[in-house]
Amino acid sequence: MNPKRLIVAITGASGTLYGARILQALQRADVEIHLVMSDAARLTMASETDLKPDDLESLAHVVHSHRNVGASIASGSFQSMGMIIAPCSVNTLSEIAWGMTGNLISRAADVCLKERRRVVLLVRETPLHAGHLKSMLQATENGAIVMPPVPSLYTRPQSVDDIINHTAGRALDLFGIETDLVDRWTGVGSRK
Ligand SMILES: Cc1cc2nc3c(=O)[nH]c(=O)nc-3n(C[C@H](O)[C@H](O)[C@H](O)COP(=O)(O)O)c2cc1C
Repeated sequence: MNPKRLIVAITGASGTLYGARILQALQRADVEIHLVMSDAARLTMASETDLKPDDLESLAHVVHSHRNVGASIASGSFQSMGMIIAPCSVNTLSEIAWGMTGNLISRAADVCLKERRRVVLLVRETPLHAGHLKSMLQATENGAIVMPPVPSLYTRPQSVDDIINHTAGRALDLFGIETDLVDRWTGVGSRK
């Protein structure tokens, strides 16, 4: 059995808050968190939030440099439930799709896939050209789950926070990690 240990990566696509919310939600679950952030993630974070890298790093049990391809999570012998990349840039998606493992994020994802562990990619870009779609197909064929952070309007979100919460919670659903973030559908016509 894999231990309750999850690798969380944050890359330079728009949507730092998805990664942040996932890290926050994991505080309430009994899960050991390994965090890796790309250089571009730091740039995007500064552009779209008031968060500092420390704010996110303090939520992880272990923080790895994305340059350290010798880190524990670079080896399949180091067990985990898998990896979530939120948000996931097209650059990182493409690396994972085509087996390029030049940094710790793409290496750890490749390792999880070869060990048949779950890898969830919150790929964020729009609109998409054929190369993006081919990379998504290839990543899926490699075993990853491509989960673009598309808002669920059926939940009638009232704020950006509502949108972020729902997507972050649905991503953690894929690992069987229960949170209080998801406004679950109970059927047409039913009342809470
Ligand atoms: C403010 C900002 C927003 C960005 N948004 C996206 C995006 O939504 N999707 C994407 O694929 N790249 C986006 N980029 C570009 C990536 O950060 C860039 O391609 C980078 O090389 C990705 O590197 P990484 O995969 O190592 O994080 C954005 C960059 C900035 C500065």
